[in-house]
Amino acid sequence: MKEELNKILENARREFENVPDIRTLEELRIKYLGKKGLLKEILGKLGSLDENMRKEVGKLANSIKNEIENIISAASSSIEKSAKEEKLKLGVEDISIPKSVPPLGYQHPITLVINKMVTIFKSMGYTVVDGPEMEEEYYNFEALNIPSHHPARDDHDSFFFGGGLLLRTHTSPVQIRTMKNKKPPIAIVVPGRCYRRDALDATHSPIFHQMEGLVVDKNISFADLKGTLLLWAKMMFGEDTTIRLRPDYFPFTEPSAELAVTCPVCHGKQCSVCKQTGWVELMGCGMVHPKVLENCNIDPEVYSGFAFGLGVERVAMTVYGIKDIRQFFENDIRLLRQFI
Ligand code: DAH
Repeated sequence: MKEELNKILENARREFENVPDIRTLEELRIKYLGKKGLLKEILGKLGSLDENMRKEVGKLANSIKNEIENIISAASSSIEKSAKEEKLKLGVEDISIPKSVPPLGYQHPITLVINKMVTIFKSMGYTVVDGPEMEEEYYNFEALNIPSHHPARDDHDSFFFGGGLLLRTHTSPVQIRTMKNKKPPIAIVVPGRCYRRDALDATHSPIFHQMEGLVVDKNISFADLKGTLLLWAKMMFGEDTTIRLRPDYFPFTEPSAELAVTCPVCHGKQCSVCKQTGWVELMGCGMVHPKVLENCNIDPEVYSGFAFGLGVERVAMTVYGIKDIRQFFENDIRLLRQFI
């Protein structure tokens, strides 16, 4: 029986030597190691041997089985290797082609603008704060010195839920929430989504983004507002950027101003983006109204502050040359993939 086993190994070595393909290899494997293969056949006869012999032959059969398995795996890799070489010769496969990489996502232009703003303000020591999009009328209006029937409410055509709740029309209510929760010094920015009942067209969207800023401390003056926003404009749009402040009106700031920057596209030389004026209006700002401070239990005799609120879409449309605000919300991949 030992002789038979050694014969099987000898034959296997010969037969497995030049196997042309995987199919033949599998046929041979079945011939030697299959359920009805040559090895099984011999092992079936083990029962007729005495115990010592059975152990000896069993051991040999096992080692021969292992050996044949090794021969098969070597044959299989050599078949694979020569198949690859064959393909290369035929030019079917080009191993220099890089593996295909799954496409990466892109950042939305609104996210890019917000991230840049946040980085700039963080570098000046500001904290980023969040607030609810479903807001109480009190925070959205009253506490900001916009009582009901105030004409300023007309600019904030709102989505109401009833029960004194609405979708916030601006990020300014987060000023109130922050001042009620934290003692000065305060320096925060609040990027976020806002909602107004505006008909959708090229320049209006019922959903849009703002970024609010608030600084409250002792001895904060209009000069601090001006210096901060000038520095921000230079970091945001380039060293040659300047700002223009013009009187404006907001119920929650006094005095109030509208801030424009030299057009980031033509650098003030006048172009279609700035409607030939050289300036682009980007935000409202001003000194926090004493009544607003009082509403938050901050003494206006001790503390003062400045605030600003910027339209994020406005900035993105200007710097990326996007003419229609609707494009920000359509998520057309052809637009989005242009931004990294
Ligand atoms: N909340 C104003 C708006 O939505 C923007 C604004 C103006 C915010 C002046 C401010 C500010 O903080 O000081 O139109």
